[in-house]
Amino acid sequence: MERVDKILRHSLFLSKLEIINYFEQDRKFCKHGIQHLLDVARIGSIILAQYNVDRNVNIHNIADEYMYAAALVHDLGRADEYEFGVPHEEAGAKTAAEILNDCGYSESEIEKIVSAVLFHKDVKCRDCNNYSLASVLYKADKLSRCCFMCQVREECKWEEIDKNNTVII
Ligand SMILES: [Fe+2]
Repeated sequence: MERVDKILRHSLFLSKLEIINYFEQDRKFCKHGIQHLLDVARIGSIILAQYNVDRNVNIHNIADEYMYAAALVHDLGRADEYEFGVPHEEAGAKTAAEILNDCGYSESEIEKIVSAVLFHKDVKCRDCNNYSLASVLYKADKLSRCCFMCQVREECKWEEIDKNNTVII
């Protein structure tokens, strides 16, 4: 995935990650560094593969590459939230569009990926059968977290239904 590799090497991607890592070095809750981004990409990819095997179809044109691209950029807005106190969704969408454009994604691909990033928090259908890019991103984002052995689980603001009690995907 040549374009995904470009994202990983993009200077804006790297600088936003550095800012996130800096602000989260003492964070006791879940972090949003490269490990999280890749976990979401891989879990999302597994969800898509399982669905494709079960249904023997290629759903909604969601290529693995889109899943990886969306996962890699989905939390970058946290850098601006930490630095400037702006809502991370909006800042993240702008950052994501700039990076994707530089990495060779077309306007329509950028729109698809950025809208998944913008709306994945609102999809709220972890257990539903909506396999849009946004909903798979949402599911993978949640499933990437190890709530079942988290030391600060009781203080976490996630709704109980979103917390992982199992590793089943
Ligand atoms: Fe995330």
